Amino acid sequence: MTDYIATSNPGFAPYAMEELRRRIPGAKLSGLAPGETFRLSVGGLPNEELIASLRKEEPIFLRHLFPIGSETDISSDPEATAAAMESFVRTLADQIAGRKIAIQVRKSQDSPFPFSSAEGRDAVAPVVRELGGDPVAKDAHWILSVYAAKKSLYIGLSEPKANLSDWPGGAVRFRREEGLISRAAFKLLEAERAFNLPLDGFVNALDLGAAPGGWSSVLLERGVKVTAVDPAEMHPSLEGHPRLRHLRNNAAELSFAPGSFDLLVCDMSWDPHHTCRIVSELAPALTAGGKGIITLKLMYKKPLQTIADLTEEYSEAFDVLKVKQLFHNREEVTLLVRRKP
Ligand SMILES: C[S@@+](CC[C@H](N)C(=O)[O-])C[C@H]1O[C@@H](n2cnc3c(N)ncnc32)[C@H](O)[C@@H]1O
Repeated sequence: MTDYIATSNPGFAPYAMEELRRRIPGAKLSGLAPGETFRLSVGGLPNEELIASLRKEEPIFLRHLFPIGSETDISSDPEATAAAMESFVRTLADQIAGRKIAIQVRKSQDSPFPFSSAEGRDAVAPVVRELGGDPVAKDAHWILSVYAAKKSLYIGLSEPKANLSDWPGGAVRFRREEGLISRAAFKLLEAERAFNLPLDGFVNALDLGAAPGGWSSVLLERGVKVTAVDPAEMHPSLEGHPRLRHLRNNAAELSFAPGSFDLLVCDMSWDPHHTCRIVSELAPALTAGGKGIITLKLMYKKPLQTIADLTEEYSEAFDVLKVKQLFHNREEVTLLVRRKP
């Protein structure tokens, strides 16, 4: 029987727990870092079955999980902590030998764990090397996850795909690329990966609520032609871009020739029902089968209900392919939709 350490965006653990409770009969859930990290017990459900089911239909709010291979009392003493980590890692000698190992160390704010993430990694890496493993940051065969909570130290070894994300705790980090116009751009970069939707595969995009132009700039970098709609100004660096057309309009007032775009993106910070009406009105501007990436604001009290309602509303014009709270989403989730034929 395996238990897991599970993580969501701050404040959203109750919804991640609710999703798991609905999906896994008999699941037991208990908070570790309030609102963000919790322990999941799934009774007799085999590890592979759980992971296959979660990967097939990813929960919206669960960002990351890893199986607990070792649970020991937490200590504030560096030597005792290093020894506890080392003794578990030595039990994994067979799996580690000749393999690339990512060591990911996290702690809750109230944990007495005596190391930073980097120091924790440095404490474990020599043991991994001694066992014939190659400590790496990316493209690992195995991830060795360490999570230090208030009372216990949890360690586990799993394949990257079994964690739902190969980033520590699912915290996706992008290098701040040169010329990045807004932090909002990270949302589209993350959606591109999370939805496995290379943006350079599109030709003509409609960007609703585009200013100051973070999403538009990502699309332009991918070689896409962009029609940006926003009454607000775009960033001066985008002025005169040969593949960018900026319409300074309210998106509700526009219409386009049928099939003008193969991609619609929408990051309007507005009531999600209004946004849905605007996007659905513009659906014919997309080619049949054209894709949409839409931010859905969670401004009401019951996020799961809001998402269920909006999924139904979007379903009139679109197939809703995925709904995911990305690491870069704050009080929102991101939808991947496809225009119905
Ligand atoms: C969060 S910002 C978008 C950031 C943008 N995605 C980026 O990467 O820079 C939301 C934008 O939506 C625009 N907006 C809100 N309602 C709109 C509407 N009805 N039509 C067009 N733009 C709208 C706002 O003017 C604002 O610039």
